[in-house]
Amino acid sequence: MRTDSSPQTIFRKDYLPPSYLVDTVELGFDLDPARTIVASRVTLRHNPASKSRDIVLHGEALELVQLRLNGKTLRPGQYELSGSTLTIRKAPLAVVLEIETLTAPVKNTTLSGLYVSNGNFFTQCEAEGFRRITYFPDRPDVMAKYTVMLRADKALYPVLLSNGNLIEQGELGDGRHYAKWEDPFKKPSYLFALVAARLVCQEERYTLQSGREVLLQVWVEEGNLDKTDYAMQSLKNSIRWDEQRFGLELDLDRFMIVAVGDFNMGAMENKGLNIFNTKFVLANSRVATDIDYAGIEAVVGHEYFHNWTGNRVTCRDWFQLSLKEGLTVFRDQEFSADMIGTDSGRAVTRIDQVRTLRQAQFPEDAGPMAHPVRPDSFVEINNFYTVTIYEKGAEVVRMYQTLLGRDGFRKGMDLYFERHDGQAVECDDFRAAMADANGRDLGQFERWYSQAGTPVVRAETNYDAIARTFDITLRQHCPASAGQEHKLPFHIPVAVGLLGADGRDLALSTDAKDRQGQATVVLELTGEEQTFRFHDIAERPTPSILRDFSAPVVLEYDYTDAELLHLFSHDSDPVNRWEAGQRLAMERLLKLTTAVATGKPLALDATFIAAQRALLVDETLDPAFRELALILPSETIIAEQMEVVEPQAIHSARQFMRRTLAAALKPELLAQYHANQTPGAYSPDALSAGKRALKNLALSYLLIAPQEAELALARQQFAEAGNMTDRAAALVALIHSGAEVGEHLHSFYQDFEHEALVVDKWFAMQAAAPGTDVAAVRKLMEHPAFTLKNPNRARSLIFNFTNGNPSQFHAADGSAYEFWAEHVIKLDALNPQVAARLARSMDRWRRYTPALQAHMQRALERVAAHARLSNDVLEVVSKALAGAR
Ligand code: TRP
Ligand code: ZN
Repeated sequence: MRTDSSPQTIFRKDYLPPSYLVDTVELGFDLDPARTIVASRVTLRHNPASKSRDIVLHGEALELVQLRLNGKTLRPGQYELSGSTLTIRKAPLAVVLEIETLTAPVKNTTLSGLYVSNGNFFTQCEAEGFRRITYFPDRPDVMAKYTVMLRADKALYPVLLSNGNLIEQGELGDGRHYAKWEDPFKKPSYLFALVAARLVCQEERYTLQSGREVLLQVWVEEGNLDKTDYAMQSLKNSIRWDEQRFGLELDLDRFMIVAVGDFNMGAMENKGLNIFNTKFVLANSRVATDIDYAGIEAVVGHEYFHNWTGNRVTCRDWFQLSLKEGLTVFRDQEFSADMIGTDSGRAVTRIDQVRTLRQAQFPEDAGPMAHPVRPDSFVEINNFYTVTIYEKGAEVVRMYQTLLGRDGFRKGMDLYFERHDGQAVECDDFRAAMADANGRDLGQFERWYSQAGTPVVRAETNYDAIARTFDITLRQHCPASAGQEHKLPFHIPVAVGLLGADGRDLALSTDAKDRQGQATVVLELTGEEQTFRFHDIAERPTPSILRDFSAPVVLEYDYTDAELLHLFSHDSDPVNRWEAGQRLAMERLLKLTTAVATGKPLALDATFIAAQRALLVDETLDPAFRELALILPSETIIAEQMEVVEPQAIHSARQFMRRTLAAALKPELLAQYHANQTPGAYSPDALSAGKRALKNLALSYLLIAPQEAELALARQQFAEAGNMTDRAAALVALIHSGAEVGEHLHSFYQDFEHEALVVDKWFAMQAAAPGTDVAAVRKLMEHPAFTLKNPNRARSLIFNFTNGNPSQFHAADGSAYEFWAEHVIKLDALNPQVAARLARSMDRWRRYTPALQAHMQRALERVAAHARLSNDVLEVVSKALAGAR
């Protein structure tokens, strides 16, 4: 909670090295939910790189019991305790601090630091949670070796875990027991973790490529042992993949994953003891969907890959967060793509990444919370675990690979570890390793880290039939963002192919001598404007620009409908093939939205319908690709294209297009529904999941204005589904159809009321249904299973409404904004991190109609005026209110 009136902004330029370095940390925990005693013994030595002899320790929500320096107790006058720091001035060069503090984990609803979830103890220390456990220089550039002694009631907490290796355990009498853990690797405090709990595990001995044997464990609550197989399999796949693709081996003898039901984010890469949101561990075919399975694989991979990119090489300060997150997201994306193994499967994962960028990152980059991949300032670091740091950061890493090739990228990674293993470094160090390993000047590439905003690349082309040349002129500009009026040109890789009239790629020859005859070339745009010439082009080609989405930019090119249809039917690059379909749809959706808003008649052209039909039935294409190509741009993405956003008009326009397509393609949809069944035992593999996705997309179309036959189809699927993917899809289709679904909702709840993650789905699908208004959401909140205290549950109902149901969230009377304000405030009192995420639902408020803006402003001001706001929420709402359009 805020103690002084205005929160402090922290600037990257103010970085100072730590005054003292820590060599060893010994921690002793006497665990008790209401009164946990933490004893720490820390050896420090003065850092020659610092002029200061003051020891600065961070601490929050702690009761200081005892403080000793080199054996002598310090009295209150001998140190300064202010806000969240404890300072010891003019300290000796070598210091041993012994600190005893008291905390009340059971009262800790923030889920940061040491807390209790379902009667068990867990910790979450990133980014600044360790200071809620003990006083410590809680910054990532202070790395130390940890030894941890845990003491707790044996019956209540039979399992005691921490980082590294278990070196001792035993009984203490009086029903308590202990375990002592030692982590052989130096680490920053944010990677510390402990678990004291009643849990069980699936475990396995696993042999690394080097022949060394390691112990792998997945820890869950007793009833969930039937849901750990996929996480374990994903962990083994991750270990193997990092050995093969990057030559990186697991450096510990023991690697543990622990699932917890109350968790602020997806998971956490604590050294040797990853702690996961249950959502990213627990799966079997009965309770988890294909998307859940994919999420588990990605997150298990992500946290495992952090062991090298994040833990062995960590961040100097939190401004460098994308150094580990962007790189690790890129690694988990490549892992997931390699696990599918086919080119078309890889493309499907790439299209998903582009959708996420457009749905969430581009809006962030254009809104009041816009920040560079390496921010220059923040108020609350927890607000900067963003899609920009993670997903745009991953795009930036991907561009190195696009520019340097896979081998060049690998050389850069090798040099990065050779130089920086065991260090806390900056984004610039990664870029330098990439440049030096490849003998390339990547100076201009730095702007991807320092400049916020999504660059716009405008392309123009010119074909000269006599000279047989084709010129592509690329111009770039980047819109202004807070504190960055004028931006300098970026170094942008633009992958290009040219299609002939027959739909085939032309063999390309450019001015660059080394690359001739390829189907795709990567043009490097570095200036504000550049023209690239292709030679020996016998016919006017259709350009396929930004293949594989080679840079996180907006591409503007005045494609004709005919060109887009040509690309949609033939482009050898699946991402641009998909993209052509999105452009065709978007153009029409924008026109339809205007027509709705101005009361004009609505119509959809036969050409578009025919193109969709052709794609739907094209058996040469993966079902997964066809499904993606047939999903229309989301209401949020359409809104981003509009000057003034009218959510109801967008919704009606998109619904009209869906209804029209459904009516026109009904026989084909029905045929695909039947052709893509996956009988037999459930398997989450990409091909089966793709079939289910296409089949369920077909079902959702068939259930728009359904007849009895279609309703029966959905009801049958709901009743007979052998897996959650099909069961949930049938229920969602029924809810969206507007049919009476009370009974179905009831039976679904009855079947799964003891599966928290399925109950989350039950709330989520109702929250996001266009028929659910704010009154219905309030009603759902009265359900006994609803609680604001559990982040997954709060997100399932509230976030899926505010972010997933735009036409209801933006109800004309502003009633849903009032609901938003009320719950930001309520959540903030419990959990500022989660509250601040909800606060972000209002980021784009200045883009709506004047009437909606007025309502939104009032709601924002209501939150901002609240007496006790966290820095988290305060930063988000004050930036929203201050931000430019
Ligand atoms: N480092 C974690 C990840 O990327 C993110 C994370 C987990 C986190 N829990 C958190 C960040 C709590 C902030 C607060 O995988
Ligand atoms: Zn991460």
